[in-house]
Amino acid sequence: MEKRELLYEGKAKKLFLTDDDNLVISEFKDDLTAFNGEKKSSESGKGALNNKISTELFKLLDSKGIPTHFVKMLDDNHMLHKKVDVIMIEVIVRNVATGSLTRNLGIEDGTVLPFTLVEFDYKNDDLGDPKLNDQHALILELVDHQDELDKLRRVAREINDILRPYFEEKGLNLVDFKLEFGKDKDGNIILIDEISPDNCRFWDIESGEKMDKDRFRQGLGGLKVAYEEVLNRILGK
Ligand code: TYD
Repeated sequence: MEKRELLYEGKAKKLFLTDDDNLVISEFKDDLTAFNGEKKSSESGKGALNNKISTELFKLLDSKGIPTHFVKMLDDNHMLHKKVDVIMIEVIVRNVATGSLTRNLGIEDGTVLPFTLVEFDYKNDDLGDPKLNDQHALILELVDHQDELDKLRRVAREINDILRPYFEEKGLNLVDFKLEFGKDKDGNIILIDEISPDNCRFWDIESGEKMDKDRFRQGLGGLKVAYEEVLNRILGK
């Protein structure tokens, strides 16, 4: 399957049409952005690592019955996947308080939450991705029915129930992550985007070291080594 015209360029990926109307190709870029695009950099090899990590995690989720857009990895930087109508909601799943949760609510960093928290953000850079409640999402017509919001929450929890023990076994604490969903040509809600250290937080269980994009957000360095370590643990190396 070959790339045709560029459909869209985002912060971390480019999206290309293919000869098949139902399939598109994502090119994983080496660019890094944080704080809604205010902080920018690039790390050679980062895109390939995220493509490989996402590929393994989509395969895992598919095998556990979670429908995803994944079709196959084409090469280091390219993934073939289904074309969808993107639901403009970022679904954030949190097991441990950090980042904006500690900033906004004053919960101490590192607090294990009494239950897994699922939040919605409006996927809108111009507005700075504000928090959404269900009524906001319905008023904005980001989904058609309350049922669909319930489904996003339910599937996000199912994904957490698969990924959290999976990473724990590999010595990584899955602190929080962001998911995106879309509707395929038959109207089914499926998981899209990527699952990588760019949109998950992983803390090493033994050392507490951050193994994700916080290394860039907080200027800690060693981003690529950390992403490589995440991939190696996934691959059991
Ligand atoms: P959060 O703590 O809300 O954001 P911040 O990066 O401002 O501290 O992030 C929760 C999780 O969701 C974290 O793993 C990063 C991920 N995330 C994204 O991938 N993209 C986003 O736009 C946001 C807000 C979060």
